[in-house]
Amino acid sequence: MKVKTSAPGKLMLFGEHAVVYDYPCIVTSVSSRIYVEVERIPGQFMIDAPQAKDLRFVEETVKVFSEKYKVDNKILIKTYSDFSSKFGLGSSSAVTVALINALSKLYKIELSKQEIFDLGYKIVLNVQGVGSGFDIAVATYGGTLYFVTGGKVIKPLLIKELSLVVGYSGTKADTTSIVKTLKSKIQISKSKYFKTFKSISQIVDAAKITLINGDWKKTGGLMSQNHKLLQELGVSTGKLDKMCQAAVVAGAYGAKLSGAGGGDCMIALAPPERIKKVELAIVEAGGEIVNVKNNSQGVKLEKI
Ligand code: PMV
Repeated sequence: MKVKTSAPGKLMLFGEHAVVYDYPCIVTSVSSRIYVEVERIPGQFMIDAPQAKDLRFVEETVKVFSEKYKVDNKILIKTYSDFSSKFGLGSSSAVTVALINALSKLYKIELSKQEIFDLGYKIVLNVQGVGSGFDIAVATYGGTLYFVTGGKVIKPLLIKELSLVVGYSGTKADTTSIVKTLKSKIQISKSKYFKTFKSISQIVDAAKITLINGDWKKTGGLMSQNHKLLQELGVSTGKLDKMCQAAVVAGAYGAKLSGAGGGDCMIALAPPERIKKVELAIVEAGGEIVNVKNNSQGVKLEKI
């Protein structure tokens, strides 16, 4: 028997970093997906994942799953991707979630979405040691989520597809080290950083309402405010700032970095008729456009 599943990548819309410290964030799934195929083989487990940037997530998933559910791991795992892992669109979390789902189908173990999330989050913490779990949640549930650290709140937000432009800044960010560096800075000046996190959480709560109401102008304004606070945290880069500014000058409602910062992608919300202009401005600022839509389905079975 062969089982094929898939899970979506993600974009952080609001609240990165603060969400590591018990504040909320808003994350959306993207149309680019990771596909996982598993089948039983006679020998020990084998991985065929030419595009994967980090096989630790695949290996840890097999280890945690087989220990928890007492299954042998005589399987061949193949992974495919719609997108390059260099963009920071959550390929590690998507592969983790898709593989948990594929293993559960292969071994006929019924898992709820909550169980998939719990297992996936444990795997991320085992591999990285840090992380809020927002990416695992959106790979599992799909759509757009209001999310609090560790899955304390996972609330779907029923919003329309966003008129987003995504620009890759050309450098790959190392999320774990950025989160750890910030953690050590916080030890020195706790009240300053927590004041910023509080302000970010107020933006997240305001954006929750403007997104539901489809008020794109206000949502864009909140994105730019969120970006300023991320600059204060010291996680943006000159290139990301330049791309965000160029997007706004070209007519976007607002723009911000998306994710840990230090590289990866920025996002801009723009009126549909200005998308082309905004894309051009981002390219002129040195970015590369990543073509994705948001709000796609969470983990799913592709075929048995
Ligand atoms: O770099 P990304 O896209 O994986 O986003 C990291 C977001 C953080 O809030 C900085 C970390 C986390 O796990 O929430």
